[in-house]
Amino acid sequence: MAACWPEPIVSVQALSQTGLPTVPNRYVKPAHQRPIFKADQSDAEMEIPVLDMSDVWEKPEGLRRVRSACEEWGFFQMVNHGVNHALMESVRGAWREFFELPLEEKRKYANSPDTYEGYGSRLGVVKDAKLDWSDYFYFNYLPSSLRNPSKWPSQPPKIRELIEEYGEEVRKLCERLVETLSESLGLEPNNLMKALGGEDKVGASLRTNYYPKCPQPHLTLGLSSHSDPGGITILLPDEKVAGLQVRRGAGWVTVKSVPNALIVNMGDQIQILSNGIFKSVEHQVIVSSGMDRVSLAYFYNPRSDIPIGPIKQLITENRPALYKPIRFDEYRLLIRQKGPCGKNQVDSLLASINDDK
Ligand code: OGA
Ligand code: NI
Repeated sequence: MAACWPEPIVSVQALSQTGLPTVPNRYVKPAHQRPIFKADQSDAEMEIPVLDMSDVWEKPEGLRRVRSACEEWGFFQMVNHGVNHALMESVRGAWREFFELPLEEKRKYANSPDTYEGYGSRLGVVKDAKLDWSDYFYFNYLPSSLRNPSKWPSQPPKIRELIEEYGEEVRKLCERLVETLSESLGLEPNNLMKALGGEDKVGASLRTNYYPKCPQPHLTLGLSSHSDPGGITILLPDEKVAGLQVRRGAGWVTVKSVPNALIVNMGDQIQILSNGIFKSVEHQVIVSSGMDRVSLAYFYNPRSDIPIGPIKQLITENRPALYKPIRFDEYRLLIRQKGPCGKNQVDSLLASINDDK
């Protein structure tokens, strides 16, 4: 029998459109999880690194810059990444139009926790959980055997074509980035791709996030603190409104997106494969009372049915294997059941290997 949600799904967008003056209790986070807005932060001037990829790919110091960004931040913004700027704008615009369609139209794609594919408003199936202030549309893109454009929105008219075009460009970018990451770890260029299961077997999925306006942004989050479970994430942010915050020590840095940049971050599988050299860093999304926000997250993941553990060459006497190998299909179940929960999952793998000793 198909699994279902523990409570009826409420579209946050529809809720926001009622013009309600306060955030319903379901979305009010406990005090320690509530966001800190930039004006309240002491490290407000900190920024995630911005890398010009034409330098990274052409200059000898490029690999070193990538390495330090992945070790220290787990995140960087990329300019000159090769993805067509007009295409980025069009695909984001098409998704915005999709979310502006009447609720009945979007509901045709309502998802379930079996696969998460389609239109949804929650992550995790824990009854009475506090919910995030967002809706999303999610689907599989790779391997191509899992790609089914008939599950993608059919409105606005050009959206499927744009998804396909953007998906291909980002796939190529990810292949190139995986080589760059491999070399920056001191490995052969194709080593990391092999460890991910190979170009033809890796997975990819796309999630478009829609963060509606919120009457009390200080009480809730658009997306709770989490690290991405997969390989690398390529985020196409909304350039008009900030929202993404990245963990830095005890605080959060709000990303100021550079025009035409894509944001990349390391997921838990890269932390595992790199034996902890690269960090999958916690992040969250804050919402705004004046503006809604759209972002596209392209998740590039390992092949799902092979064990993923630290790459052999990165295990040394001084740096023994930090993580137990685990298959990605198994790993991903936790976030699908419990929803976003910081870095608990990758940390639990760390704990379990130590427990065995
Ligand atoms: C995500 C994510 C950030 C954003 O989808 O995993 O972290 O800015 N999104 O929407
Ligand atoms: Ni994320």
